[in-house]
Amino acid sequence: MNKETASLWRGSSEPLLKALHILTRDGKLNSDSRRKLKQVQHLVQLIEPYLQRTLAIRSHLHVTDFGAGKSYLGFLLYDLVLREIPDAKLTSIELREELIQKSIQLAKDSGFDRMEFISSSIESAKLKNPVDVVCALHACDTATDDAILFGIRENAHAFALVPCCQAEVSAQLDQIPAPEKSPLFRHPLHRREFGSHLTNVIRGLFLNSLGYAVTVTELVGLEHSMKNELILAEKKSTPEHPESLRAKDSLSKILTEYRLQPKLLRGV
Ligand SMILES: C[S@@+](CC[C@H](N)C(=O)[O-])C[C@H]1O[C@@H](n2cnc3c(N)ncnc32)[C@H](O)[C@@H]1O
Repeated sequence: MNKETASLWRGSSEPLLKALHILTRDGKLNSDSRRKLKQVQHLVQLIEPYLQRTLAIRSHLHVTDFGAGKSYLGFLLYDLVLREIPDAKLTSIELREELIQKSIQLAKDSGFDRMEFISSSIESAKLKNPVDVVCALHACDTATDDAILFGIRENAHAFALVPCCQAEVSAQLDQIPAPEKSPLFRHPLHRREFGSHLTNVIRGLFLNSLGYAVTVTELVGLEHSMKNELILAEKKSTPEHPESLRAKDSLSKILTEYRLQPKLLRGV
């Protein structure tokens, strides 16, 4: 890694920067590279405090990246945070075997020996270690919900979710007979946007109702994607806490009002 790159990047892996197309094959910075470096470091900066607090509370740290694709988020978290934490582990779960094989090679080239890659659906994934933190970056449609449910079953301490396209709620809104459809979502385009908004509101309330504190923030431009909502959640109390009960009540009212039965609620 040359001096300029080293001064901008606190990570160690040149193969990773090349895989991210931040460095060219001959190890130079591209014209867009500085901006991209800042963006990926910004995402990690938002997630890192959650990892550090989880480690402080649990004394161990196993991060999972669900619907990992090329596992870039996992690689970044490993290189910039977990690499320095003895025994911290990261597991990527991804349906597509060929992406898993590429990631195994990239981890080998980078010397990241506490990363594991599993080719599986989220629902049927079998992990060796209990999960402390759940990440899901642009996991399609209800795959984000599968990741949330997996983390809840495992009593994860924290979640970092950047939802992707979501079709389930808007399809259920469409089942409401035309005369009863609210003007808020009568048009298909509004139904898609409103359904997407409701989906993330439901996810936040669901986590609140189980005792997680939730922060929703914007994640600017990591991908060439319009899906830029980052949901961060951290276990702070119990489902019996009055705030959790209030969230449960709000969630139930929303589900009744819009006649929804999302997978997230069917899965518990
Ligand atoms: C849009 S890509 C995002 C990949 C990566 N997280 C990123 O942001 O670059 C979604 C990935 O999730 C995977 N996926 C979708 N549903 C899944 C499921 N139920 N279980 C495991 N992986 C899934 C797809 O194969 C795809 O690679």
